[in-house]
Amino acid sequence: MVTVERAAELLASQELVAFPTETVYGLGADATSATALAKLYELKGRPLGHPVIVHLGSPDWLPDWAIVDERARCLARAFWPGPLTLVLKRQPQVLDLVTGGQDTVGLRMPAHPLALELVTLLGRGVAAPSANRFGRISPTTAAHVRSEFGEHLPLLDGGACKVGVESTIVDLSGPQPAVLRPGAISATQLAEKLGFPVSSGKKDVRAPGGLKSHYAPVTPTRLVSPSRWPETVTEMVEQGQRIGALSSQKIGLETVWIEAPSAAEDYAHNLYANLRRLDAAQVDWILIELPPGGEAWEAVRDRLRRAASQGD
Ligand code: TXA
Ligand code: MG
Repeated sequence: MVTVERAAELLASQELVAFPTETVYGLGADATSATALAKLYELKGRPLGHPVIVHLGSPDWLPDWAIVDERARCLARAFWPGPLTLVLKRQPQVLDLVTGGQDTVGLRMPAHPLALELVTLLGRGVAAPSANRFGRISPTTAAHVRSEFGEHLPLLDGGACKVGVESTIVDLSGPQPAVLRPGAISATQLAEKLGFPVSSGKKDVRAPGGLKSHYAPVTPTRLVSPSRWPETVTEMVEQGQRIGALSSQKIGLETVWIEAPSAAEDYAHNLYANLRRLDAAQVDWILIELPPGGEAWEAVRDRLRRAASQGD
């Protein structure tokens, strides 16, 4: 563990530091240092060309990174610091390692006090993808980060992340705002502030978070509708499968059962810890009961679909 002052020094000397945000833990690098960014891609095992989000200390930093219009100012004013990433046209000096060579850049101001302090102490943008190996489950505790990267990575411990799923990403680089990745802030909330519609559910091919295999446990994972839950669990156990379940219904045949929280916020807060627990349980299948529809559940359902889609 390191202090926030030490963490800022490490970032300034082009080293990597894992730190908490209100969404998930990030693997941080000075976003103006090609050396630091190269280390970040290397450690995460992330293919080059996948853009990273830059974390800012204030909305006042926006013009250093992007062309800022009234829509961006409006959303930053309303939702920053908080779990919202704005995709905007980049400034020319932004490194290709940040943008993946695109003409846009993803920016957000995190709400976790340690994240804000870290970025403020560094005084520059911090590039931070989720602190997991590429394609694996995002970390929401310091222990999760340790299990991904071991003891040697400098780590700032800020407890369990409040939100639990990654930030909402909204693309403002074109005429029509579009949510590229659902998160705690909904398309409806964005539209209310902007005063015009924001499309959602449209997956942009440029957002690798849109790859189906992301956020996946190693154990094969299936989503099951509530009505088919009892027979599915029963049949699979009869076929000799050991089942780890996240569901509201308990059948009694599960090897491990985790009760699914009934509120979307609680479900999201615990989601990645629950997936990690089930993945570590040495079962043949992880079965997850599909949570309800509706906008409040959109981010959770999105991450569950990705968790269950490996091999597709
Ligand atoms: O909540 C979060 O956003 C967390 C915490 C650490 O802040 N970060 C995070 O980073 O989820 P990462 O790298 O795991 O996911 C970043 C997503 C990717 O899907 C990436 O493609 C997208 O943001 N992204 C970044 N810059 C983009 C851009 N210029 N255009 C489109 N998508 C972009
Ligand atoms: Mg990620």
